[in-house]
Amino acid sequence: MLSELGAMASLSNVYLSPKSQYPSSFSSAISPCKSVCLVSPKTASDFQLKGVSMNLDLFVIRGNHHGRAWKCGVQLVPIMAVQKSEPLKIMIAGAPASGKGTQCELITKKYGLVHIAAGDLLRAEVAQGTANGKKAKEYMEKGMLVPDEIVVTMVKERLLQQDAQEKGWLLDGYPRSLSQATALENLQIRPDLFILLDVPDEILVERVIGRRLDPVTGKIYHLKYSPPETQEIANRLTQRFDDTEEKVKLRLKTHHQNVEAVLSIYEEVIIKVKGDLPKETVFADIDAALSVVLESKAKPISAAMATSVTQ
Ligand code: AP5
Repeated sequence: MLSELGAMASLSNVYLSPKSQYPSSFSSAISPCKSVCLVSPKTASDFQLKGVSMNLDLFVIRGNHHGRAWKCGVQLVPIMAVQKSEPLKIMIAGAPASGKGTQCELITKKYGLVHIAAGDLLRAEVAQGTANGKKAKEYMEKGMLVPDEIVVTMVKERLLQQDAQEKGWLLDGYPRSLSQATALENLQIRPDLFILLDVPDEILVERVIGRRLDPVTGKIYHLKYSPPETQEIANRLTQRFDDTEEKVKLRLKTHHQNVEAVLSIYEEVIIKVKGDLPKETVFADIDAALSVVLESKAKPISAAMATSVTQ
């Protein structure tokens, strides 16, 4: 156990969970290890320890419970360590206008993840008039997937940037084909959770046609479901070049041709969320799922109970 403790030296907290018979109030010291410090016991069976000595294998707690002095020895065989959570890695998918971008705004606001949207990266290339942008636009106009030779490297490079590695990432609209998913698998890039927004096709066309974007803030609006807050914002809203009824039907067809293959790669981490409800309700479902993932990522890496208690 001690060697295991040594291996945990970099962990932020070490929790000791002794048997439950300790009195709930403490007044006194811990010996023999001065480097162990007992901090505000929350319950009789839950003490938080800071600065656990790497040489510690036994210590004694002395206390006072309703005027009665007590002491007990605890052998540190059982230690529970909690590691600082790794950043979240999330993918979000769904048909055109299923609400991916809208939910990403809400997720990043709460969880601070780096939002990486394949469509946004491509539109930036188109706007800059690069060679890749010109080629990508031909496909985007037709509602087709942009070839892998453009998209795969672009997304991979963005994912590997420092901010995404440190804060965690939220990958929106990628991967969209088996070959893209396989490329990520080969790099051992896997999500903790794959969110699939489920919206009936008949709703999507209306969402696309009514969508407007604020070029100043990047915020997504809908003329009916999420109108701009002020006339000033309304006046500057723009529409995407592929947001026509004709093009969204082509995009939808492409989506249906590819989605099952992508889902087959991530079936162990998929959560299907009903996306035809108000955006706040959709977010509440996503939020609940993300909380569970976060909690599981912070799980103790070693858990056991204290032994050899004497009183
Ligand atoms: P991309 O930009 O990713 O477009 P998309 O997948 O068609 O998705 P959208 O951005 O249209 O919709 P969204 O789901 O984000 O919905 P939003 O939140 O805006 O891709 C564009 C093109 O790029 C592709 O066609 C392809 O050519 C290319 N491309 C992209 N990724 C690629 C890849 N991996 N490989 C190859 N090519 C790729 O919401 C839509 C509207 O609905 C908004 O007005 C919003 O206000 C409203 N709304 C949202 N949620 C709700 C709600 N709950 N209730 C009512 N209204 C709502």
